[in-house]
Amino acid sequence: MSVLIKGARLYGEGDPVDVLVTDGLIAEIGASIEAPDDAEVIEAAGQVLLPGFVDLHTHLREPGREDAETIESGSAAAALGGYTAVFAMANTDPVADNAVVVEHVWRRGRETGLVDVHPVGAVTVGLKGEKLAELGTMAKSAAGVRMFSDDGHCVADPLIMRRALEYSTALNAVVAQHAEEPRLTVGAQAHEGRIASRLGYAGWPASAEESIVARDCLLAQHAGAKLHICHVSTAGTADVLRWAKNRHGSGFISAEVTPHHLLLTDERLSTYDPVNKVNPPLRTGADAARLRAALAEGVIDCVATDHAPHPVQDKDCEWAAAKPGMLGLQTALSVVTETMVRTGLLDWRGVARVLSERPAEIAGLPDHGRPLVTGEPANLTLVDPDAEWTVRGAELASIAANTPYEGMRLPGVVTLTLLRGRITAREGKIG
Ligand code: DOR
Ligand code: ZN
Repeated sequence: MSVLIKGARLYGEGDPVDVLVTDGLIAEIGASIEAPDDAEVIEAAGQVLLPGFVDLHTHLREPGREDAETIESGSAAAALGGYTAVFAMANTDPVADNAVVVEHVWRRGRETGLVDVHPVGAVTVGLKGEKLAELGTMAKSAAGVRMFSDDGHCVADPLIMRRALEYSTALNAVVAQHAEEPRLTVGAQAHEGRIASRLGYAGWPASAEESIVARDCLLAQHAGAKLHICHVSTAGTADVLRWAKNRHGSGFISAEVTPHHLLLTDERLSTYDPVNKVNPPLRTGADAARLRAALAEGVIDCVATDHAPHPVQDKDCEWAAAKPGMLGLQTALSVVTETMVRTGLLDWRGVARVLSERPAEIAGLPDHGRPLVTGEPANLTLVDPDAEWTVRGAELASIAANTPYEGMRLPGVVTLTLLRGRITAREGKIG
């Protein structure tokens, strides 16, 4: 079975070309390729071909909260969003802190077959921050875990964090930190600043993130370990990262920013709508501007969604009781198009870097984020850069519908996703 993509521009550059995909690989790239008999032909004039996206930070909720998302529904959202690989966070129920749970997630991902699902292993038993989980057993399991994180919680104890970093070096793994000093965010509901004060919310200060990022960069350097910082949300964290990368090298320290921290700000909180509640919280417009600049510059390496589905009862309630988190998989490309491409901060080659190449490198995925050349695995995403769409939570593939972009018109539409040469999503539909 072959797929012939006709007339797309690779990375949005140069003349349009035809790309023939056969047996899971890019078989040929040329000005005009004749379709083999068995080929599915995709007319792609005006469209941009990119390597398939890789999300380092997804909550698929299975096992435990299948009323919000399952591996199947989350995989569908990922494929429709242009993703070919996702990393499923460990804060499930039971927690993915052992080989049985990570192998279950990995196997369900394989059975679903829409996107490569890589389970993230918890750093500590039960995400409690007290005792290291069996990182080695998870690494050696069939799931081959290479990323560990207590995301949702910070590994706050510096000694536990140090040990996790040290062990991870032997496993050739990366530790991804949810940077939030818990003593500084007790009861926190919103970014500490003018808006939180006016609305009467307890504040989540920027320094609660920045202090942990600085500490962990020093610990990672000491251990010679790979550290990844989840969902960077403040301008100050970008400054710390710049300093740490200069000192320790960008091969060791990496960081992600979410689409929502690039686009949305705490000005939204005056609606009191908990759809805007997320952790870390939406920050100021000045923070968002600095995050966009840091991403363009490479101080922040990549975009990760922190796709966090929640059932309606956990979001349609008063602010303090609502769970933090928002959907992200199907809107990420559009938000990146809006904030980074339309602003001139990134071209499409830059989009390939932040949505595909860097995340694949950080996680050590050999078959994703590869160059668009003959012989490479056909993990590909086709984007219509000029099309626009209106976001409707109820129409997204996720079981939950908590999108902060409800009713917004956004540019950039994923029209085709190929996983190892197989069509996983096409024109907004699966398969
Ligand atoms: O907003 C968030 N939601 N931040 C996290 O760190 C966890 C996530 C979740 O699991 O819902
Ligand atoms: Zn987190």
